[in-house]
Amino acid sequence: MTSGTLLQQITDYANRADPYPFYAELRSTPVARQDDGTYLVGTYYEISGLLHDPRLSSDPRNLADRRGGLTEEEEAGLPPSFIRLDPPEHDRMRRLAMRAFGPPHNPRRIHGMRGELLRIVTDVIDELHGKERFDLVDDVAYPFPVTVICRLLGVPREDEPRFHDWADDIVGGLDLTPGQDFTERQRTAQRARVELGGYLGGLIDQRRRNPGDDMLSALATDQGPDGRMSPIEQITTAVLLLIAGHETTVNLITNGMLTLLRQPQHLERLAKEPDLAVPLVEELLRYEPPVQILPQRVTLADIEIAGTVIPAGAPVWLALASGNRDPRRFPDPDRFDPDRQDNQHLGFGGGIHLCFGAPLARLEAQMALTQLSQRLRNPRLLEDPPPYRRNPILRGPRHLPVAVDGTQEARPTR
Ligand code: HEM
Repeated sequence: MTSGTLLQQITDYANRADPYPFYAELRSTPVARQDDGTYLVGTYYEISGLLHDPRLSSDPRNLADRRGGLTEEEEAGLPPSFIRLDPPEHDRMRRLAMRAFGPPHNPRRIHGMRGELLRIVTDVIDELHGKERFDLVDDVAYPFPVTVICRLLGVPREDEPRFHDWADDIVGGLDLTPGQDFTERQRTAQRARVELGGYLGGLIDQRRRNPGDDMLSALATDQGPDGRMSPIEQITTAVLLLIAGHETTVNLITNGMLTLLRQPQHLERLAKEPDLAVPLVEELLRYEPPVQILPQRVTLADIEIAGTVIPAGAPVWLALASGNRDPRRFPDPDRFDPDRQDNQHLGFGGGIHLCFGAPLARLEAQMALTQLSQRLRNPRLLEDPPPYRRNPILRGPRHLPVAVDGTQEARPTR
């Protein structure tokens, strides 16, 4: 089999439920050049090395061969957010955004939301009362993180129907697999970013005049040693936070319940030992990571790695999900083991772009899974494998139909 067909197999929708055998094959060639000149990297140490290599850019404008197919005007629609920028712009914007989100300026921000998070997840699970069947995605794993990110940013929750389709279209644009509809996907995603940016820009203007305690207000008004973000930077950051803040967590919670329902001994243990939630969520981020591949890197110089020279200007795809199952790094990698020690997975990426929202994502998943383990009576999967989303990059089930014998009242703690 050639490496070109291997990437096709990894991203083929028919293999979405279980791409792991193809990743295993990928690891036999740590840096695999594809027929179209893309370099696919699937081994832990090589991925980790590249994530920390300043010669690898996150800015697609550095590609020798721009493949987007978009006109300049379309591409100019809304500039990239800091996830797609390199230093020094990336670092300045990340520092400014971090001032409102975590240490050192707001070290209690996420911890301080624990009570609110618990109330939100409790309400969401209360809604299941009286149901014998439900969809874990639409009824729990989606509404919970959406409500949380709305509260954090200060976006009205009732506006969710307005931004839902834009979010779907933007996430569709992250799917960089070649195909007939590639350019159309990119065009639709760019249009959706402009529209979502217009909507969030309106909210930011309001907060500039009338600030509150939310992150949009902080983006609009905060002034640090780096100055203030420009109005357009405030918008691109708000778009990034809204999308990154829920489109990934929904898949972590869903992949988590799917794994636990397939291996119910872990679900039962979690219900009795809520402290298990911390290592269990780390193991999920290794075993079933919501971000499977980072497809948007590009070399700024020739990089020699694992005996291969990746030429300057080449697209590089880092298969995080494959690195997470690399037996050179993790013993018995295909086993889901919440007691695993030394679990430095790649689920949140690494290096300067390491996930900004990781503390929030962890807390949300720990709380949702613990609450579900304690409150669902005799939960069973109704479809295995469940129907998956099309996207091979942000991978997770679109629906997860579950049957229960009812739900229990929320316990007073956690
Ligand atoms: C389970 C949930 C999540 C997963 C698996 C995840 C995963 C990731 C990964 C792999 C990256 C690195 C991207 C790259 O290197 O190109 C990243 C970056 C990022 N994530 Fe997350 N994420 C999650 C939740 C969140 C949440 C809740 C937020 C916001 C509150 C968030 C905000 C961000 C931001 C802003 C970046 C860009 C950081 C930078 O470029 O410096 N993420 N995330």
